[in-house]
Amino acid sequence: MHIDRLERYWIIAVGVVLGAFGAAIVASVVVFGVRLPSPVGRIDPAKIKESEFATPGLTQDGDHTYTLRIVAKMWKFDVGTKEPQPTIKIPAGSRLKILATSLDVTHGFYVEQHDVNVMLLPGQISQVDVTFNKPGVFHIICHEYCGPGHQAMVATIEVNEGN
Ligand code: CUA
Repeated sequence: MHIDRLERYWIIAVGVVLGAFGAAIVASVVVFGVRLPSPVGRIDPAKIKESEFATPGLTQDGDHTYTLRIVAKMWKFDVGTKEPQPTIKIPAGSRLKILATSLDVTHGFYVEQHDVNVMLLPGQISQVDVTFNKPGVFHIICHEYCGPGHQAMVATIEVNEGN
């Protein structure tokens, strides 16, 4: 079969580009440890009161390490307090393990200026590990439309000067 010279060059060029793309995917997994986000657990929303999410909120695990359990529901991020828009206070340098789930519909979970952006699905537990180094006020925002109270679904993380 005759292949024209220019055509052969293009076939080689396309092969090289596809090979580079494939190598990039393999390198991202093997070298850089990139993983698809996946739920860390399953939960029955009807039995949330019998689970570790029965008492959501902040618990201190060690020096500057905390676990924050959050239950998203229409239309609040529940951290175990009464306010409709709760505030979580931590010192700068705190490392948070955030465990979150939804009681009812799909909610969003986005933290300003930090690498946190997940969806909270009923029946699924999501985990995000994040360190808050910079003092300031950072909002947690629901960025999935979840009903008529969606725009009020905000909580705040207040990072104070560390010691
Ligand atoms: Cu919850 Cu929008």
